[in-house]
Amino acid sequence: MSTTTIVPEGAVRSSGLPRISQLAFLRFLVNGSRGNFAPWFEAVQRYPRGFESRLFGQRCIVMNEPDGIEEVLVKNHKYYHRRSRPTPLKVITGESVLTISGEPHLRQRRLIQPAFHKSRLDAYGDSMAAMAERYAARWRDGATLDVHAEMMRATAAVITKTMFSSDIEEDARIVGHAINALLTHTKRYLVPGIGSMLDRLPLKGTRLIKEALRQLDSIIHRFIEEHRKAGAEMDDLLTMLLEARYDDGTVLTDRQLRDESMTLFLAGHETTATALSWTFYLLSQHPKIAEKLRAEVDDVLSEGRSPEVDDFPRLDYTRRVLTESMRLYPPVPGTDRQAIEPNEILGIPVNVGDLILVSPMVTHHDPRWYPEPKRFDPDRWLPERAEAVPKFAYVPFGGGARKCIGERFAWMEGMLLLATFSRDWCFELAPEARIQPKMNITLRPAHGLPMIARRRPSGVS
Ligand code: HEM
Repeated sequence: MSTTTIVPEGAVRSSGLPRISQLAFLRFLVNGSRGNFAPWFEAVQRYPRGFESRLFGQRCIVMNEPDGIEEVLVKNHKYYHRRSRPTPLKVITGESVLTISGEPHLRQRRLIQPAFHKSRLDAYGDSMAAMAERYAARWRDGATLDVHAEMMRATAAVITKTMFSSDIEEDARIVGHAINALLTHTKRYLVPGIGSMLDRLPLKGTRLIKEALRQLDSIIHRFIEEHRKAGAEMDDLLTMLLEARYDDGTVLTDRQLRDESMTLFLAGHETTATALSWTFYLLSQHPKIAEKLRAEVDDVLSEGRSPEVDDFPRLDYTRRVLTESMRLYPPVPGTDRQAIEPNEILGIPVNVGDLILVSPMVTHHDPRWYPEPKRFDPDRWLPERAEAVPKFAYVPFGGGARKCIGERFAWMEGMLLLATFSRDWCFELAPEARIQPKMNITLRPAHGLPMIARRRPSGVS
């Protein structure tokens, strides 16, 4: 399929943004969901500010101008809500800080935010590093691993420990497995009306969704029970949620505790695993960058010790590698908002019900801010070069009132795991590897990431 049919030139202009046909837009979305982002990169070159289309009668605006993104996410955020109909996320997480909008969202966010305060999170650094050591010690020299599956296991173990104080691997495995099944089968909720119709039919997907939700509910309710019995003895995210009080003194109901726990588990596990997987893939393709990263790690972690949060200022190249990896492969490649009041973005009229799409995948490939946008170049993030990038041209964690609540957690985890694994291991892409991204809320490698683990000579055994 030629890309010019997907984003046709000479599109009709209305309201200041080029307009593409519904068919062209549908193709654009389907290509993205299959991991073919070529039309997306072409779109950003042709329509740098963005474009609009209609889908099933709904006006959709793809906004790519950093100032416009800032208007939607920050300055005028109160005019934009999450979509009200069921979405794949809502089916899994229920009514949580991730899915609700307006005043209830602000109230919930205020309640949960303290759990992510720096002083609380820094205390989790040791658990994160300990989990990284556990996984780094497991691999065998010369073995072929699915690095994506390994990263999923490692981040599931980290969030199970920091969220529920459990280091029972079976718990992390069951929750990780159930969430994976849900992410695979909840695509049915993308198109309005289809999901709820299929839910009534005796299909395999319907059975798997119900089974996965049942497993997750039972495990999370068990954790809630155990925490209640233990009182305030545990120092984890669930304890913070159990102790949190709204302004009127009320606490979260069991249903809310379940929904918020599920949200943090989902949001805090797959995203970081995806970021690490793509980072190891990119390093395998860029040996000089990998060498430089390992030299920094060896220098900072002398005698093979574990990394700590206090090491971060000296792990500057490690941070740049992770930043650049999330530019090329943003773990959350797109998000949307629905207008609840008439307003404007960059002077373009927006009507009630219009859908605004913001895609880090598109924005991070904009040659206006990123010369040679497909090139993996961690040094773009040297301070003197990074200052030329507008703030809202790099949005892997979103922005404004709904900015990722776990951003600091993710950076800590990403840095600690990347440094620990790079201290001991190199990963070479296996000859049979088929590398293809796939968008399913997050951007995971469609066929996993088979890599050969090579123990580094200086690595600890
Ligand atoms: C590399 C890792 C991560 C990435 C790239 C990421 C990305 C994002 C993005 C883009 C959003 C905003 C979506 C929007 O505006 O519609 C978001 C929201 C959120 N993230 Fe993350 N995330 C990561 C890790 C985490 C972690 C570790 C946690 C928790 C432990 C977490 C919890 C959340 C929650 C609860 C929200 C909803 C916030 C709200 O709507 O108020 N995320 N994340």
